[in-house]
Amino acid sequence: MLQELPQALAANIQSAARLLTAPARICILTGAGISAESGIPTFRDKQTGLWEQYRAEDLANPAAFARDPQLVWSWYQWRRQLVHNKQPNPAHLALADWQDYAAQHNQSISLITQNVDDLHEQAGSTAAHLHGHLWRNRCSHCGISYEDKSRDFNADKDVSEDDSNFSTDLITCQHCDNYIRPDIVWFGEALPTGAWQHAEDAAANCDVFISIGTSSLVYPAAGLAQLAQQNGAKIIEINPNPTPNTIVDITLADKAGVVMPHLVQQIKET
Ligand code: OAD
Repeated sequence: MLQELPQALAANIQSAARLLTAPARICILTGAGISAESGIPTFRDKQTGLWEQYRAEDLANPAAFARDPQLVWSWYQWRRQLVHNKQPNPAHLALADWQDYAAQHNQSISLITQNVDDLHEQAGSTAAHLHGHLWRNRCSHCGISYEDKSRDFNADKDVSEDDSNFSTDLITCQHCDNYIRPDIVWFGEALPTGAWQHAEDAAANCDVFISIGTSSLVYPAAGLAQLAQQNGAKIIEINPNPTPNTIVDITLADKAGVVMPHLVQQIKET
């Protein structure tokens, strides 16, 4: 199977698999790139259609919501519409398969994601979400979570497409009358304490840290690889493009959906 890949990539996958066979503790950080092959654009991709003129950074921040809640809410409703019918790709599925396999082979895999989609969960993985959840909402003032089963974005994902409601009408909190916002960590906001502590612990105590599909530009998540390396871990990066991450021991320079199934198969065979 590896023969179908370029020779250098195949050799690097074999080296990575050797590194991943023995160690007990593995920490994996995923970013938007792992969902790219499911058809979800990454953050550094230029936006399309109605939103072409906006940068994600200028919409995903609390000041933008305070200034123009309608604009920011409409953008998230558009993103929800874009994401709602997307499915896990071979990278998500291989990761979930590896988590199952690892549990039976004395390995622990901590999966940390910066993604707000739920494709890891759809694939059968458990992941800690550092940047929140696209399908959840909360009050922008009192923080109480908002659930409305009549709206597709909060309902279970088995709502049929015909029933979808991506209305751009703003919703207000039943308790304090302020606007409801997506339960997503915006630029300038703190990460959820529990998820971040879990990520720091997993990174500081792992034998191998794997970064998949992230530009390594957004902190504090981008600092996890460094934390792992300072504590003696080896670092593997899976990304078709170069990143500013300079501490990588093995780079697997191709799409996650190409690399992950081969890597997991090699781990099982090594
Ligand atoms: P980015 O959009 O910054 O980076 C995506 C990375 O994925 C890039 O380095 C691409 O080269 C890589 N990539 C693209 N296609 C890929 C593929 N098929 N397989 C593997 N890699 C691929 O996304 P993130 O690093 O996740 O924060 O961005 C980090 C955070 O910045 C996001 O969580 C978001 C954003 O603003 C918030 O929303 C708070």
